[in-house]
Amino acid sequence: MNPAPPTDRFAPASGRLYEEATKYLPGGTSRIHYWFDPHPIYARSARGCRLTDVDGVERLDFLNNMTSLIHGHAHPVINAAIVAQLERGTAWSEPGEAEVELAKLIVSRVRSVERIRFGNSGTESVMLGVKLARAFTGRDRIGKFEGFYHGYYDYVQTSVRSSPSAWGPPDAPATTANSGGLSSSVLGEVVTFPFNDLAAVERLFARHGSTLACFLVDPLASQSGGPVPAPGFLDGLTALCRQHGVVLLYDEVVSFRIAPGGGQEKFGGTPDLTAFGKIIGGGLPVGAIGGRAEIMALLDPSGGGPRVLSGGTFSGNPLTMVAGLAALQMLTPEEFARLDRLGARIREGVNRVFENAGERIRMVGEGSLCRINPTADVVTDYRSFVKNAVSASRMGLLHRHLLDEGIIVSKAGMACLSTPMGEAEIDACVAAVDRAVAKLPR
Ligand SMILES: Cc1ncc(COP(=O)(O)O)c(C=O)c1O
Repeated sequence: MNPAPPTDRFAPASGRLYEEATKYLPGGTSRIHYWFDPHPIYARSARGCRLTDVDGVERLDFLNNMTSLIHGHAHPVINAAIVAQLERGTAWSEPGEAEVELAKLIVSRVRSVERIRFGNSGTESVMLGVKLARAFTGRDRIGKFEGFYHGYYDYVQTSVRSSPSAWGPPDAPATTANSGGLSSSVLGEVVTFPFNDLAAVERLFARHGSTLACFLVDPLASQSGGPVPAPGFLDGLTALCRQHGVVLLYDEVVSFRIAPGGGQEKFGGTPDLTAFGKIIGGGLPVGAIGGRAEIMALLDPSGGGPRVLSGGTFSGNPLTMVAGLAALQMLTPEEFARLDRLGARIREGVNRVFENAGERIRMVGEGSLCRINPTADVVTDYRSFVKNAVSASRMGLLHRHLLDEGIIVSKAGMACLSTPMGEAEIDACVAAVDRAVAKLPR
């Protein structure tokens, strides 16, 4: 690995490309999550767990296209499946064999999923889940937890990053807009709940339960400090949804990478519907919604249906399907166990570095999913994640020093492992974090 050479200017070739890019792309990029000051690094190539930028600097990639590449970059088995499919066509109007095989595999692994429909992104999957729930219940509103991210569909771009001045009481959080451009009717159609407080959730259900079509939850809210559900919390939520006739929708777009059966296998609860994305596409664009046959039947055009229309020119395209199938087939229970061990090793090593340096920063996570949190407190919900947080500028400096030391994580501290990694890469990361932390101002 070539750590970045010391330069006066950060990643100069990326800087030049950024200047050019901003003439054509707002912010010089097609997505917000990788933008940071002074500019993103621009990638040129990647293989395994290493990515090389346009300056020729190679880094260990602990971000893996925002957690979607569980086998890292250009995995030979996935590549072979894609190349073989390229020869047979990239997209057909017709369904194909790999689509059936991938559906069968996911249904066999996820206990709550009886039928599945593929799409093109996690956002699209959440959107279709909400529509199915509305059609099934005849209700409009949705419930979600404060601080939880579920993509960029209007109804879920709410209360993701509420500020203390607007977030309202802890046991009945206000619903706030998280983006411009949301229809003004959206806020009234979303009820925001506090995570991990079952008594408060129960009280809010008593008030709003009969108006909710669905309740949306990420069993491991990787984007809001990774609070682990308290024992029994998701089972309690399941019971409340059943009692009030609310469709329970799990967002496993990210958490599906922590166990063969996803976050629901690890943390419990029984969703009616589950949204997937990221790793199930083997590195190509993907999404899927799966769940109880009775609800999924709303999508079935045979027998006079469907009541919920879903299309998507590239939904279930064979290129994504063969890549996803190859990726999931390689994710054996043994491979999950190995990733679990590596995950424990990196969290233990990195946290030793933070503790020794007296930094109030910690790495949390589950299995191959990690997050560098701006707090040493145990995060139980969004507010405990935000309270006592180390300044954003210190976290930004840490992100920049990590890049200089050859490590890629997101600017928000999101990180994950990939199967090409072993103990050597984990230990190299811990050593790099040690060097990066030493550069922070005392
Ligand atoms: C928990 C969660 N849900 C949904 C999404 C949206 O997925 P996509 O970016 O594929 O639209 C994301 C994306 O990061 C996510 O983290």
